[in-house]
Amino acid sequence: MLVTTKEMFEKSRKEGYAIVAPDYWDSNSCRTYVETAEELGVPVILSFAQAHQDMLSLEEAFTLGKFYGEKASVPVALHLDHGQDLETVKKAVDMGFTSVMIDASAKPYEENVTLTREACEYAHARGVVVEAELGHVGSGDVITSENMEALREDKNIYTEVEMAKKFVEETGVDSLAVSIGTSHGLYKGTPVIDFERLHELRDALAIPLVLHGGSGSGDENLERCATEGISKINVFTDFTVAAIEAVKGEDYINWYKLMKDANSAISEKLKFYFRLFHTGKAG
Ligand code: 13P
Repeated sequence: MLVTTKEMFEKSRKEGYAIVAPDYWDSNSCRTYVETAEELGVPVILSFAQAHQDMLSLEEAFTLGKFYGEKASVPVALHLDHGQDLETVKKAVDMGFTSVMIDASAKPYEENVTLTREACEYAHARGVVVEAELGHVGSGDVITSENMEALREDKNIYTEVEMAKKFVEETGVDSLAVSIGTSHGLYKGTPVIDFERLHELRDALAIPLVLHGGSGSGDENLERCATEGISKINVFTDFTVAAIEAVKGEDYINWYKLMKDANSAISEKLKFYFRLFHTGKAG
Protein backbone atom coordinates (compact mmCIF):
# COMPACT_ATOMS: atom_id res chain seq x y z
CA MET A 1 0.00 0.00 0.00
CA LEU A 2 1.11 3.52 -0.77
CA VAL A 3 1.17 5.86 2.24
CA THR A 4 2.80 9.10 3.40
CA THR A 5 5.63 8.94 5.90
CA LYS A 6 3.42 10.43 8.63
CA GLU A 7 2.06 7.15 10.01
CA MET A 8 5.43 5.41 9.54
CA PHE A 9 7.26 8.04 11.55
CA GLU A 10 4.69 8.09 14.34
CA LYS A 11 5.29 4.38 14.86
CA SER A 12 9.06 4.47 14.40
CA ARG A 13 9.48 7.32 16.88
CA LYS A 14 7.36 5.58 19.46
CA GLU A 15 9.27 2.32 19.05
CA GLY A 16 12.74 3.86 18.57
CA TYR A 17 13.92 2.75 15.16
CA ALA A 18 14.70 4.26 11.75
CA ILE A 19 13.19 3.44 8.38
CA VAL A 20 15.50 2.84 5.43
CA ALA A 21 15.06 5.21 2.49
CA PRO A 22 16.87 3.47 -0.40
CA ASP A 23 17.28 5.39 -3.67
CA TYR A 24 16.18 3.51 -6.79
CA TRP A 25 17.46 4.28 -10.26
CA ASP A 26 15.71 1.69 -12.44
CA SER A 27 12.94 -0.89 -12.36
CA ASN A 28 15.24 -3.57 -10.93
CA SER A 29 16.29 -1.55 -7.90
CA CYS A 30 12.73 -0.30 -7.33
CA ARG A 31 11.24 -3.77 -7.43
CA THR A 32 14.07 -5.28 -5.37
CA TYR A 33 13.58 -2.75 -2.56
CA VAL A 34 9.83 -3.35 -2.35
CA GLU A 35 10.13 -7.14 -2.54
CA THR A 36 12.79 -7.13 0.16
CA ALA A 37 10.61 -5.00 2.46
CA GLU A 38 7.74 -7.42 1.85
CA GLU A 39 9.97 -10.39 2.62
CA LEU A 40 10.81 -8.92 6.03
CA GLY A 41 7.35 -7.42 6.55
CA VAL A 42 8.66 -3.90 7.16
CA PRO A 43 7.85 -0.41 5.84
CA VAL A 44 10.09 1.24 3.26
CA ILE A 45 10.53 4.77 1.92
CA LEU A 46 11.10 4.30 -1.78
CA SER A 47 13.19 7.29 -2.84
CA PHE A 48 13.95 8.76 -6.21
CA ALA A 49 16.56 11.52 -6.40
CA GLN A 50 16.03 14.33 -8.89
CA ALA A 51 19.72 14.05 -9.82
CA HIS A 52 19.07 10.54 -11.17
CA GLN A 53 16.81 11.77 -13.95
CA ASP A 54 19.51 10.87 -16.45
CA MET A 55 18.64 7.22 -15.71
CA LEU A 56 14.92 7.58 -15.13
CA SER A 57 12.62 10.52 -15.77
CA LEU A 58 10.36 11.75 -12.96
CA GLU A 59 7.38 10.26 -14.81
CA GLU A 60 9.10 6.88 -15.19
CA ALA A 61 10.17 6.91 -11.55
CA PHE A 62 6.66 7.75 -10.41
CA THR A 63 5.06 5.07 -12.59
CA LEU A 64 7.38 2.38 -11.24
CA GLY A 65 7.13 3.51 -7.62
CA LYS A 66 3.33 3.70 -7.77
CA PHE A 67 3.06 0.29 -9.42
CA TYR A 68 5.22 -1.56 -6.91
CA GLY A 69 4.13 0.55 -3.95
CA GLU A 70 0.41 0.12 -4.47
CA LYS A 71 0.52 -3.63 -4.75
CA ALA A 72 2.92 -4.08 -1.84
CA SER A 73 1.74 -5.88 1.27
CA VAL A 74 3.74 -3.47 3.48
CA PRO A 75 3.52 0.34 3.82
CA VAL A 76 5.50 2.08 1.07
CA ALA A 77 6.04 5.84 0.91
CA LEU A 78 7.01 7.24 -2.48
CA HIS A 79 9.49 10.03 -1.91
CA LEU A 80 11.18 12.61 -4.14
CA ASP A 81 14.73 12.82 -2.78
CA HIS A 82 16.78 16.04 -3.06
CA GLY A 83 14.22 18.07 -4.99
CA GLN A 84 16.35 20.88 -6.36
CA ASP A 85 13.69 23.39 -7.41
CA LEU A 86 10.05 24.19 -6.69
CA GLU A 87 8.95 23.32 -10.20
CA THR A 88 10.11 19.69 -9.82
CA VAL A 89 8.79 19.43 -6.28
CA LYS A 90 5.36 20.66 -7.36
CA LYS A 91 5.38 18.33 -10.37
CA ALA A 92 6.12 15.38 -8.06
CA VAL A 93 3.28 16.40 -5.73
CA ASP A 94 0.85 16.72 -8.65
CA MET A 95 1.90 13.32 -9.98
CA GLY A 96 1.22 11.56 -6.71
CA PHE A 97 4.52 11.19 -4.82
CA THR A 98 3.39 10.90 -1.20
CA SER A 99 6.44 12.70 0.19
CA VAL A 100 8.84 15.28 -1.27
CA MET A 101 12.12 16.83 -0.27
CA ILE A 102 13.02 20.40 -1.12
CA ASP A 103 16.76 20.68 -0.66
CA ALA A 104 17.84 24.29 -0.40
CA SER A 105 20.46 23.49 2.22
CA ALA A 106 23.31 24.93 0.14
CA LYS A 107 21.45 28.26 -0.13
CA PRO A 108 21.41 31.03 2.49
CA TYR A 109 19.10 30.45 5.48
CA GLU A 110 16.39 32.94 4.40
CA GLU A 111 16.21 31.44 0.92
CA ASN A 112 15.98 27.94 2.38
CA VAL A 113 13.07 29.12 4.55
CA THR A 114 11.25 30.77 1.64
CA LEU A 115 11.57 27.77 -0.67
CA THR A 116 10.71 25.24 2.04
CA ARG A 117 7.68 27.25 3.16
CA GLU A 118 6.35 27.45 -0.39
CA ALA A 119 6.92 23.71 -0.92
CA CYS A 120 5.04 23.01 2.34
CA GLU A 121 2.08 25.23 1.44
CA TYR A 122 1.75 23.54 -1.94
CA ALA A 123 2.28 19.97 -0.74
CA HIS A 124 0.23 20.18 2.45
CA ALA A 125 -2.80 21.48 0.53
CA ARG A 126 -2.59 18.24 -1.47
CA GLY A 127 -1.99 15.83 1.40
CA VAL A 128 1.74 15.39 0.76
CA VAL A 129 4.47 15.67 3.42
CA VAL A 130 7.71 17.65 3.04
CA GLU A 131 11.31 17.07 4.13
CA ALA A 132 13.88 19.88 4.09
CA GLU A 133 17.54 20.07 5.04
CA LEU A 134 19.29 22.52 7.34
CA GLY A 135 23.03 22.45 7.68
CA HIS A 136 24.57 20.90 4.63
CA VAL A 137 25.40 17.23 4.04
CA GLY A 138 28.05 17.44 1.35
CA SER A 139 29.66 14.83 -0.87
CA GLY A 140 32.90 13.07 -0.16
CA ASP A 141 33.80 15.26 2.84
CA VAL A 142 35.85 13.32 5.30
CA ILE A 143 34.99 14.32 8.83
CA THR A 144 37.51 12.95 11.29
CA SER A 145 38.31 13.53 14.94
CA GLU A 146 40.97 16.01 13.77
CA ASN A 147 38.78 18.32 11.71
CA MET A 148 35.52 17.80 13.58
CA GLU A 149 35.93 20.76 15.94
CA ALA A 150 36.70 23.13 13.08
CA LEU A 151 33.71 21.87 11.13
CA ARG A 152 31.48 22.32 14.16
CA GLU A 153 32.28 26.01 14.08
CA ASP A 154 31.10 26.25 10.50
CA LYS A 155 27.38 26.95 10.78
CA ASN A 156 26.75 25.85 7.23
CA ILE A 157 27.87 22.28 7.90
CA TYR A 158 26.55 21.06 11.25
CA THR A 159 22.90 21.77 11.99
CA GLU A 160 22.53 24.41 14.68
CA VAL A 161 19.88 23.66 17.31
CA GLU A 162 18.42 27.15 17.72
CA MET A 163 18.44 27.72 13.99
CA ALA A 164 16.68 24.39 13.44
CA LYS A 165 13.94 25.29 15.94
CA LYS A 166 13.38 28.59 14.16
CA PHE A 167 13.45 26.89 10.75
CA VAL A 168 10.78 24.36 11.71
CA GLU A 169 8.54 27.11 13.12
CA GLU A 170 8.99 29.35 10.11
CA THR A 171 8.40 26.69 7.47
CA GLY A 172 5.96 24.15 8.91
CA VAL A 173 8.15 21.37 7.48
CA ASP A 174 7.22 17.76 8.39
CA SER A 175 10.70 16.25 8.80
CA LEU A 176 14.21 17.65 8.83
CA ALA A 177 17.44 16.30 7.37
CA VAL A 178 20.22 17.24 9.76
CA SER A 179 23.94 17.41 9.29
CA ILE A 180 25.80 15.68 12.11
CA GLY A 181 28.85 14.21 10.40
CA THR A 182 27.78 12.10 7.43
CA SER A 183 28.43 12.84 3.79
CA HIS A 184 27.04 11.48 0.50
CA GLY A 185 28.96 8.81 -1.38
CA LEU A 186 32.14 6.97 -0.47
CA TYR A 187 34.38 8.01 2.42
CA LYS A 188 38.09 7.55 2.86
CA GLY A 189 37.49 6.57 6.51
CA THR A 190 34.64 6.12 8.97
CA PRO A 191 33.08 9.48 9.83
CA VAL A 192 32.81 10.82 13.35
CA ILE A 193 29.17 11.42 14.21
CA ASP A 194 28.27 14.24 16.58
CA PHE A 195 25.89 12.31 18.84
CA GLU A 196 25.74 15.16 21.31
CA ARG A 197 24.32 17.38 18.59
CA LEU A 198 21.93 14.63 17.53
CA HIS A 199 20.56 14.33 21.06
CA GLU A 200 20.17 18.10 21.35
CA LEU A 201 18.29 18.25 18.05
CA ARG A 202 16.10 15.29 18.96
CA ASP A 203 15.18 16.87 22.31
CA ALA A 204 14.57 20.32 20.84
CA LEU A 205 12.50 19.42 17.77
CA ALA A 206 9.06 17.84 17.70
CA ILE A 207 9.38 16.53 14.12
CA PRO A 208 11.20 13.42 12.79
CA LEU A 209 14.89 13.78 11.92
CA VAL A 210 16.48 12.38 8.77
CA LEU A 211 20.07 11.28 8.13
CA HIS A 212 21.49 11.50 4.62
CA GLY A 213 24.65 9.84 3.38
CA GLY A 214 24.09 6.50 5.12
CA SER A 215 26.56 4.54 2.97
CA GLY A 216 29.84 3.66 4.61
CA SER A 217 29.03 5.62 7.75
CA GLY A 218 29.93 2.76 10.10
CA ASP A 219 27.49 0.13 11.37
CA GLU A 220 27.81 1.17 15.00
CA ASN A 221 27.29 4.83 14.13
CA LEU A 222 24.21 4.04 12.06
CA GLU A 223 22.62 1.76 14.63
CA ARG A 224 23.09 4.43 17.28
CA CYS A 225 21.58 7.09 15.00
CA ALA A 226 18.59 4.83 14.32
CA THR A 227 17.92 4.24 18.00
CA GLU A 228 18.96 7.63 19.39
CA GLY A 229 16.79 10.02 17.43
CA ILE A 230 16.95 9.55 13.65
CA SER A 231 13.70 8.34 12.04
CA LYS A 232 14.87 7.82 8.46
CA ILE A 233 18.26 6.96 6.99
CA ASN A 234 18.95 7.50 3.27
CA VAL A 235 21.17 4.96 1.53
CA PHE A 236 22.21 4.84 -2.11
CA THR A 237 25.91 4.24 -2.83
CA ASP A 238 26.16 1.04 -0.78
CA PHE A 239 23.59 -0.66 -3.01
CA THR A 240 25.57 0.12 -6.14
CA VAL A 241 28.76 -1.03 -4.41
CA ALA A 242 27.09 -4.28 -3.34
CA ALA A 243 25.95 -4.92 -6.90
CA ILE A 244 29.45 -4.35 -8.30
CA GLU A 245 31.10 -6.49 -5.63
CA ALA A 246 28.72 -9.34 -6.44
CA VAL A 247 29.50 -9.46 -10.14
CA LYS A 248 33.10 -8.31 -10.45
CA GLY A 249 35.62 -11.00 -11.23
CA GLU A 250 32.91 -13.28 -12.63
CA ASP A 251 33.20 -14.15 -16.28
CA TYR A 252 29.59 -13.54 -17.25
CA ILE A 253 28.32 -14.44 -20.67
CA ASN A 254 24.72 -13.99 -19.63
CA TRP A 255 23.51 -10.46 -18.90
CA TYR A 256 20.29 -11.81 -17.39
CA LYS A 257 22.28 -13.82 -14.82
CA LEU A 258 24.46 -10.81 -14.04
CA MET A 259 21.42 -8.64 -13.35
CA LYS A 260 19.89 -11.30 -11.11
CA ASP A 261 23.09 -11.64 -9.09
CA ALA A 262 23.31 -7.87 -8.74
CA ASN A 263 19.69 -7.67 -7.57
CA SER A 264 20.28 -10.38 -4.97
CA ALA A 265 23.25 -8.47 -3.59
CA ILE A 266 21.19 -5.28 -3.40
CA SER A 267 18.46 -7.17 -1.57
CA GLU A 268 20.93 -8.64 0.95
CA LYS A 269 22.38 -5.19 1.63
CA LEU A 270 18.92 -3.75 2.20
CA LYS A 271 18.04 -6.60 4.59
CA PHE A 272 21.22 -5.82 6.49
CA TYR A 273 20.18 -2.18 6.88
CA PHE A 274 16.59 -2.97 7.84
CA ARG A 275 17.97 -5.15 10.64
CA LEU A 276 20.71 -2.71 11.65
CA PHE A 277 18.21 0.15 11.95
CA HIS A 278 15.63 -2.14 13.65
CA THR A 279 13.14 -0.98 11.00
CA GLY A 280 9.68 -2.17 11.99
CA LYS A 281 11.51 -4.34 14.50
CA ALA A 282 12.85 -6.44 11.59
CA GLY A 283 14.19 -9.77 12.79
P1 13P B 1 24.77 7.68 0.20
O1 13P B 1 24.90 7.48 -1.28
O2 13P B 1 26.01 8.19 0.83
O3 13P B 1 24.22 6.48 0.89
O4 13P B 1 23.70 8.86 0.41
C1 13P B 1 22.38 8.64 0.02
C2 13P B 1 21.54 9.82 0.31
O5 13P B 1 21.70 10.50 1.28
C3 13P B 1 20.45 10.10 -0.64
O6 13P B 1 19.68 11.17 -0.26
